[in-house]
Amino acid sequence: MTKISASALRDDFFAVAPSATTRIVELHTENLAEDAARLLAGLLAADARTDPKFFYDAQGSALFDAICQLDEYHPTRIEASIFSEAREAIAVEISRALPDGFQWVDLGAGDAAKSRDWLSAVAPRRYVGVDIADAWLRPAVARIAEAHPDLDAIGVVADLTRPQMLAPVLDEVSEPPLFFYPGSSIGNFEPLRAITLLRTLRQLGGGFGGLLIGVDCERDAGRLEAAYDDALGVTAAFNRNVLRVANRVLGADFDPRAFAHRAWFNAEERRIEMHLVASTQQTVRFTQPLPAERDFEAGEHIVTEYSYKYTPARFGALLDAAGFSSHRVWQDPARRFAVFLAIA
Ligand code: AVI
Repeated sequence: MTKISASALRDDFFAVAPSATTRIVELHTENLAEDAARLLAGLLAADARTDPKFFYDAQGSALFDAICQLDEYHPTRIEASIFSEAREAIAVEISRALPDGFQWVDLGAGDAAKSRDWLSAVAPRRYVGVDIADAWLRPAVARIAEAHPDLDAIGVVADLTRPQMLAPVLDEVSEPPLFFYPGSSIGNFEPLRAITLLRTLRQLGGGFGGLLIGVDCERDAGRLEAAYDDALGVTAAFNRNVLRVANRVLGADFDPRAFAHRAWFNAEERRIEMHLVASTQQTVRFTQPLPAERDFEAGEHIVTEYSYKYTPARFGALLDAAGFSSHRVWQDPARRFAVFLAIA
């Protein structure tokens, strides 16, 4: 998923001149037509659905950044506190498990802010920032290159739901990758898809890499629900923004005001569910990639996101199922979030 911090919205964010060692590899453009077709198919299905990746246009990314600053939404802050508490211990584990000169692969890099302290702590040979939004990736990679002139800094514009596309870039050098996947974005994949993604990451390292990943944990349902239905309505705006994206990508005429935001914890499935619920009967028209129409009855739902919550043991089982040989976990004192270092 693409996450962009408020700093990315300041004018001076783009002021860094691309350095000679910065390279941007564009892998996403070939998937745009397929993405539009999938988005349309999901919205026309009897159980209408959109993939969470469609939240993150520039406006959705800014709204997500605002979510991360809400009192009700803890994962980002707790993860940052675990990182700063445990950075040294994690760096020692990384240096034990990986050879000198690995590749730090920043999945969903955004403005690359979360990687900055790590690059000094673990000194990789190469930085590979991966994000779907190239407008943010270019300046972020340029800043990394400027701050770490010895680092080979590369940006890859790619969709994280297709990690196998990274193989040609990672295989350009012999150093194994350490994937950095913070923010519990793995929770937005259904568990079987999460295992597939994790397995692909392990295989991309040819059996020699690793994964440093943040995972949001199961806890009190009331607090979890507040985190996805905040008092200011920021998450509601983030949710409805996907209809704006659909209007642009599909030439559709959704009225976001005609859909209500709903979010709740599904205890059986151990996930937050976010839905948009039609407040009146309405017909939505689509003009691309094919002309189409869809009636929504009053009360009909579009599922826009699942956010799975794990216990450390359950997420450890996912890593085992993906074939990782070992892992270690760090948590905050209240055990609301977990950071795993998994070794291929
Ligand atoms: C990006 N992802 C981990 C967020 C989450 O918590 O599932 C997206 C989000 N949706 C609503 N609030 C935040």
